[in-house]
Amino acid sequence: KKVVLAYSGGLDTSAIVPWLKENYDCDVIAFVADVGQGDEELEGVEAKAIASGASSCRVVDLKDKFAREVIYPTLKTGAIYEGQYLLGTALARPIIAEAQVMVARETGADALAHGCTGKGNDQVRFESAFAALAPELTVIAPWREWSMRSRPQLLAYLAERNIPCSASATKIYSRDANLWHISTEGGELEDPWCEPSEQVWTWTRSPEQAPDKPQYLELRFERGELTHLDQVSVAPVEAIQKLNVLGGDHGVGRLDMVENRLVGMKSRGCYETPAGTILYAALQGLESLVLDRSALDYRIRIGNEFAQLMYDGRWFTPLRDAMLAAAATIAEPLTGEVVVKLYKGQATVVQRRSPNSLYSSAFATFDEDEVYNQKHAEGFIRLYSLASRIRALHQGESK
Ligand code: ARG
Ligand code: SIN
Repeated sequence: KKVVLAYSGGLDTSAIVPWLKENYDCDVIAFVADVGQGDEELEGVEAKAIASGASSCRVVDLKDKFAREVIYPTLKTGAIYEGQYLLGTALARPIIAEAQVMVARETGADALAHGCTGKGNDQVRFESAFAALAPELTVIAPWREWSMRSRPQLLAYLAERNIPCSASATKIYSRDANLWHISTEGGELEDPWCEPSEQVWTWTRSPEQAPDKPQYLELRFERGELTHLDQVSVAPVEAIQKLNVLGGDHGVGRLDMVENRLVGMKSRGCYETPAGTILYAALQGLESLVLDRSALDYRIRIGNEFAQLMYDGRWFTPLRDAMLAAAATIAEPLTGEVVVKLYKGQATVVQRRSPNSLYSSAFATFDEDEVYNQKHAEGFIRLYSLASRIRALHQGESK
């Protein structure tokens, strides 16, 4: 029997390799998704997997797919979970699961395994993707089966089997990094009354430490997608990586929030999404010029619903296609330039222009204008408020 494990090289999945072999009498194929988590995590990961007992290890580069097929389309929906979270972890899960299924198919495996706990969102995201793409494969979630509960127990488990592991017993936080964000949970963050210490943050400088001089960035979008940064053409992965560094330097993109997990409990997490924060701000700046009131209102509603869909792991559904298509249509006229100012933790839109701009200074001016007849407003308000007038008259009569 063969099992394909979504392997990260961390302590949990390192212990899962021997555990699967012992408890399922199987070969373990380690599958590593490169979603932009960085060289530190990826370096030597194959050797690590083999040392843990995996029969082979496959690293698949998903960065470009992640950026083009997930991040950019989602950006057009404006999805933000519970008004704050830019969904960094949730966005990556479906394509990781999809690539894992492909490896299972190629190797003729019988089962898929992951290292998510039984308390979180990620198990739901992985397994919902598995269900949609490979309902015939068995799913194994060791955290829901074994009795180990702590890092020292996992380390002891590996030591008993003479499996080398560089992980420490005292790692404080649970982190998840990819191209879009890094999340940090656990440690002192489990107390929502406790301010995150500086060691929580790894991609961003604190706004207090950020440069005193602001930095201006010009972003060009075509049909809702970033194409140029300071007039130089940029591919999606490169753009996100650059903006993460620039934003991080200025302390942009930090979020400390308590959220509702899909499984019912609340959890507290700190997120760093510098590029995402800049891109959301910039695109909103362009939307404000180009979208009329009802289109913008509809886009905001799609954003809320799409955030829910992503958070809840429903990527592989017809509803996802429908919502992305609607968002892409609304984003068609989003072509133009936006200047964003990075300063002390803030990304502020300070300039915007578009050939599709509906902004008309001829109409909006407080000075004299030639295009707008203020008298027309009278009839409009008369009809607009007719129901209120009728109600008031009616109430006057019945008194
Ligand atoms: N709470 C966030 C989410 O549900 C982050 C989860 C982080 N996952 C992890 N395995 N460390 O999307
Ligand atoms: C986990 O429980 O594996 C991480 C947190 C989450 O999935 O929400």
